[in-house]
Formats: sequence, C-alpha cells, structure tokens
Amino acid sequence: MKNYLVISLLCIFIGDATAKSGPQKESALKRVFKKDFLVGAALNPGQFFGAADDNCEVALIKKQFNTISPENVLKWESVHPWPGQYNFGPADRYVEFGIKNKMFIIGHNLVWHNQTPAWVFQNALGAPLSRDALLQRMRDHIFTVVGRYKGKIKGWDVVNEAVDEDGSLRQSGWLKIIGEDYLLKAYQFAHEADPHAQLYYNDYSMENPPKRAGAIALLKKLQAQVAPIYGVGMQGHYTMDWPIPSEVEQTITDFASLGLKVMITELDVNLLPPPGSNSLPDALQQALARRYAGLFKVFVKHRHQITRVTFWGVTDADSWLNYIPVPGRTEYPLLFGRGCVTKPAFDAVVAVGESTPQ
Ligand code: GLA
Repeated sequence: MKNYLVISLLCIFIGDATAKSGPQKESALKRVFKKDFLVGAALNPGQFFGAADDNCEVALIKKQFNTISPENVLKWESVHPWPGQYNFGPADRYVEFGIKNKMFIIGHNLVWHNQTPAWVFQNALGAPLSRDALLQRMRDHIFTVVGRYKGKIKGWDVVNEAVDEDGSLRQSGWLKIIGEDYLLKAYQFAHEADPHAQLYYNDYSMENPPKRAGAIALLKKLQAQVAPIYGVGMQGHYTMDWPIPSEVEQTITDFASLGLKVMITELDVNLLPPPGSNSLPDALQQALARRYAGLFKVFVKHRHQITRVTFWGVTDADSWLNYIPVPGRTEYPLLFGRGCVTKPAFDAVVAVGESTPQ
C-alpha cells in the first residue's frame, strides 16, 4: 500500500513536471489556458456519435478542450428540415457528449441566412411569408430548440452573420420580410426560452473597419433596445497575413468597450498551400506556428475580455477548408494534423500559454 502511494505520488510529480517543462505534446490546451479562457472545438457527428474512446479524435477532444460547438447539427436545415418536423437525434447526442465530458456546450445557430431551407420564408403556395407568419415561425423554432436544451446548452449564437462587408445589414430573407427588428425579436425569444443562457452575436471579418463599424452600430442599437446580448463572437476564419494582430486586438477592444464579452468562435488559419502539394513543408509549419503564437498573444493579453477560443474543427482532416472554397484541396489550418499528431503550431500556442504570468 505504502509503495503504491509513493509510486502514485511520483507519477503525479513526474506528470506535472512533464506538463510544465517536458515534451509539449503532453500539454492540454484547456489546462494551459485555464485561467485565461475556455478552449474549444467544433465537432462533427463522427466525433460524438458513440465513437469509441480509442478513436484518436475523441481522445484528443476529451484531453484538450473544455467547450464544444456543433459544426452543423443545430443549424436550421439539420435540426428542423421540414415544417413541423424536427430532427433532434444528432443534436441530442452532441449535447449528451458535452454533458458526459463536463464541457461548456454551445448552440450554433438559431437565425442565419445560410443552411436555412427555402420553405422557412415561404407559405404553402411557395409565395413569400408575411411578416407576422415569419416571426411566428422564428419564435416556434427558437422556443422548440432552445427549450429542449434549456440549462444544458449554456450559450447560443442567436443571430449569425447579419452584417455585410460594407457595414449595412445583410439583405437576408429575415430582413426583407420582417424588417430590422428581426434581430431584437430573435434575442428576446431566445431569452424567454432560456433566461440563463448566454446569447451571442456571431460574425466573420469584423476586423475590417467598415464591417466592424456596422456591427458596432447594430449592437449599440440592440443594447439601446435592451436586447439580452451577452457577447460577440469573432469567427476567426483567418489567413496567414489577414488580419494582422493589431487589427484583431482593436476589434476585441472595440467590442469589449460596448460592455460585451468577446469570443473567438471558429478559429482556423487558411494556409492556401501550393496546388498539388500533399504535405506541409517545414517552413510553412513554422510560419503557421508563428501566426498562431501571434494570435494567442493577443488573446491572452485580452483574457479579461475574452471568455472562449474555439477552433473550427479538431484536426486538419475535419476542416471545412478541405472543400471550401476549393473542393478536394488538402488544408492544414488547425493545431492538430491528420492522425491527431500535434503540429509545431500546437507547441507554439502552448508556449504562449505557459509563458503567461498567471
Ligand atoms: C460560418 C458558419 C459556420 C460554418 C463556417 C464554415 O462561419 O458560422 O457554421 O458554416 O462558416 O464551415
């Protein structure tokens, strides 16, 4: 018994020492950034649908992350494909996975122009729906979906991508039929459906000044109407040279100055490797590592404003960038490579976290 105790203590000591100064592949992002923000990934059904524990991605998700987002299963077209017909099976499994692994579970998303079936905006004859009917449909959807996961899904992307590149409101079916107050209504419905859930506005490219100005104007207007918004999600679909760290920083600061929390919600770095290449040259691996280190330095510096950093995908094999915008391309945008190997970018991110005074 005594020996067992000594060996156990030794293991804990060695394990701890390894995490701090040994091979960084032993490190876990959720521990390294524990005092800074949650760290997460967007999951696909293969990862939460009863996948065996020896599946390397499942093991990696459990080890590295403390928050999860669903890549697709909660989008309107997946969860509510036909009028009055909900498909909750996959979303239930996603939520069960999060609960089982004690993760902060995100809902993505409720109101969006994309991956929303055409019938949503039409009546039974295929003509555009009236404002009242669309508002009613939006309310039913939000109450049904948010209500089902009340108390389990802790934060919702209520409206996704409502602003255009020039800062004007996107001419979506929602805006055209309901008018500008569709946004306020969406937040009010979601709040009514689960008063304790955090509600977010989520969008991309807000690092560009015209779009950011539009998003800020929109958020200020919503705040003046007392919309229950908790935070802003900066998607973070970046490239190697856009946006530069100071633009990321300015965007975080601008949103935080509205009294909102900031989240990086869909982080990846599009490397655009040369056509035909099927591995990542070392120089590019190192460049990606420097790029991620630069981004995480900004995130850590603003840890009092940022609550979460979520990657859009777990390993390079899962990334949407393998098929959009160029189908069949081999992409390398994340911290883990195919086969779950840690990349130099992972070590660089861990090094930023470990060198931050707590
Ligand atoms: C947007 C959406 C996500 C996802 C990504 C790309 O950012 O918010 O749900 O579709 O595009 O995959």
